[in-house]
Amino acid sequence: MAHFGMIGLGTMGRNMALNLADHGFEVCGYDPNENQRKRLEEEAAGKPATSAGSLQDLVNNLQSPKIIMMLVPAGKIVDAVIDGLLPLLQKGDIIIDGGNSHFIDTERRFQTLKNSGIHFIGMGVSGGEEGARNGPSMMPGGDKESYEQVKNILESIAAKAEGEPCAYMGNTAAGHYVKMLHNGIEYAMMQMISEVYSLIKISGFSNGELSSVFGEWHQGELQSFLVEITSLIFNKKDEETGKDLVDMILDRAQQKGTGLWTTQSALELNVPTPTIDIAVTMRYLSALKAERVKAAGYFDYHKTNISTDKEVIKTICGEALYFGFTIAYAQGIKLIQAASATSNYEIDIKKVLKIWRGGCIIRSAMLNDLHKAYLQEPDLQIVITSPLFSKKLSEKRNSVVALLKTAMDTGTPAAAFASALNYFDAYTSAQLPANLIQAQRDFFGAHTYERIDKEGSFHSKWTS
Ligand code: 6PG
Repeated sequence: MAHFGMIGLGTMGRNMALNLADHGFEVCGYDPNENQRKRLEEEAAGKPATSAGSLQDLVNNLQSPKIIMMLVPAGKIVDAVIDGLLPLLQKGDIIIDGGNSHFIDTERRFQTLKNSGIHFIGMGVSGGEEGARNGPSMMPGGDKESYEQVKNILESIAAKAEGEPCAYMGNTAAGHYVKMLHNGIEYAMMQMISEVYSLIKISGFSNGELSSVFGEWHQGELQSFLVEITSLIFNKKDEETGKDLVDMILDRAQQKGTGLWTTQSALELNVPTPTIDIAVTMRYLSALKAERVKAAGYFDYHKTNISTDKEVIKTICGEALYFGFTIAYAQGIKLIQAASATSNYEIDIKKVLKIWRGGCIIRSAMLNDLHKAYLQEPDLQIVITSPLFSKKLSEKRNSVVALLKTAMDTGTPAAAFASALNYFDAYTSAQLPANLIQAQRDFFGAHTYERIDKEGSFHSKWTS
């Protein structure tokens, strides 16, 4: 009898099953595709991982309480698998959804399964194929009691950040909410890296030099998975043409929805996350390739090379990235906190920052300081005011301004940096021009306004 059931034996499910088997857990996998089942058995070669030919067989092969993880595409397939499993399970069994499910779906599934006595854990998993095989970052949420039952298994296979494995994120959909935010921040960081890429490129850096620049940054305060892989990407040759592979890739970014969901949730909760929002928007803009090519023919202000000092550009870009990454994390953290308060997730942001340090796509050295900032001041409203960040941000702000000036002069879009700077400038402004907006609202719609000298709502007759 196996300890653990895995449904969905694609790249993630198969690798996670093998990871579990490596750690001595007997796994039984199921996938409707026979080839995927065979592949698991072949790759398991001697390890305790087998496959079942149907959901019923899978359930029959498991010890009770049955622990079954699904790693299937988010959406209707998750519901279909749950519907198939429900008649086969008993009270106390545990289903874990390890896919990138929308947190709203997870909340609904959690409630439905709770009514049937089945425990449901919505768990964000990050780290791709490599992570699944050797140590993913896992963000489980649901009820604490069921987490305690699977804790040992999950902790054994999880990525460890300074010895710390995954941790319970909070109630109901907390795990998927945290993973969604991880992806929103991922979008923002990737967008800023790509903006830096375009500026450095027009400053005359070859791909080899770009690789070295990112490699150098990865040795310093920008140390992160995304900066590291960017360095490796610039060195990769296309096997077909022998050219640099990055130059052979069409500039049209795709997305599966987690960035959009982050932005939707932020707008609904009235939390400003402009750097994440613009990263989503820029993916949509990149997708308009044919329209962009056509429009480019009408204008000639884009510069493809500039004669600035390469060292200066490198410094500006590196500092701007530090500033931008901080703002992206700051916005994401604030959204998690707001959602946690609204939905009673009871998420401890310190735990989130701690586990993000290992195995996930947005892991970075900066997370150590972010974590420290909340340890020092648990009620910190935003990291930019923490002494660990405030001085650095004031210093690096000039580099963001310099980057944006160059970007604007050369017609190079740098929307994520612009949004990060504007967010910072607005958040640190004691006075914004919103008084005028209030006056206008009251003028045309009698929407009233508050005054600076006394409490209450006021309306004025604006014309005679
Ligand atoms: C991870 C990644 C993973 C996936 C992204 C890609 O944490 O391992 O975030 O979940 O690669 O969801 O998302 P897009 O296709 O939307 O870019």
